[in-house]
Amino acid sequence: MDIKYIFNQNREWIKKKLEQDPDYFKKLSRSQTPKVLYIGCSDSRVSAEELMGVSPGEVFVHRNMGNMIPNTDLNVMSVINYAVTSLQVDHIVVCGHYECNGVKAALKSEDLGILNPWLRNIRDVYRLHKKELDAITDEQQRYDRLVELNVQEQCVNVIKTAEVQKACRERHLTIHGWVFNIRTGELIDLKIDFDKILNEIMEIYHII
Ligand code: CO
Repeated sequence: MDIKYIFNQNREWIKKKLEQDPDYFKKLSRSQTPKVLYIGCSDSRVSAEELMGVSPGEVFVHRNMGNMIPNTDLNVMSVINYAVTSLQVDHIVVCGHYECNGVKAALKSEDLGILNPWLRNIRDVYRLHKKELDAITDEQQRYDRLVELNVQEQCVNVIKTAEVQKACRERHLTIHGWVFNIRTGELIDLKIDFDKILNEIMEIYHII
């Protein structure tokens, strides 16, 4: 791709926006009040705003390889903290996607350097759900299920944080686990039963 193309596109975009509303950027620069925090994969094919059909200002977005939420990652932890305590979002979405190369790479017997500790978190998800996953004979179905279970476990990581526990108690904050089916374009709500999961794990992860 020619980088010039991007700048041309940018000029076209400004023109289009100003035609629709001459004050568009004036309004945009004033503040943001997103009600949704979206945590998804960095994969170039899973473009958050486009697949949800939302405009700038509507969703607070964090993306990394494999839509991971490791408890020691200062980056994602800061995003969650800011979204929950300052922006006061009503929804936190963890969105995985089928054909995720991060998930596939995690299960390969290969030294991937700096990616090893990052992707090891996905191996932990496999270990937690080994019985269910090993019972699936079809390889694609097994990968698909691991993508779903990874989303579920990352949602659990969201619930482990003090600010989320506090917000869930004091106001209406909902956690959602989604998968983007890259083969059809469909966004799937995994309908994870968080009340059940919370009851099961709170004895261990209860902070406040
Ligand atoms: Co991915």
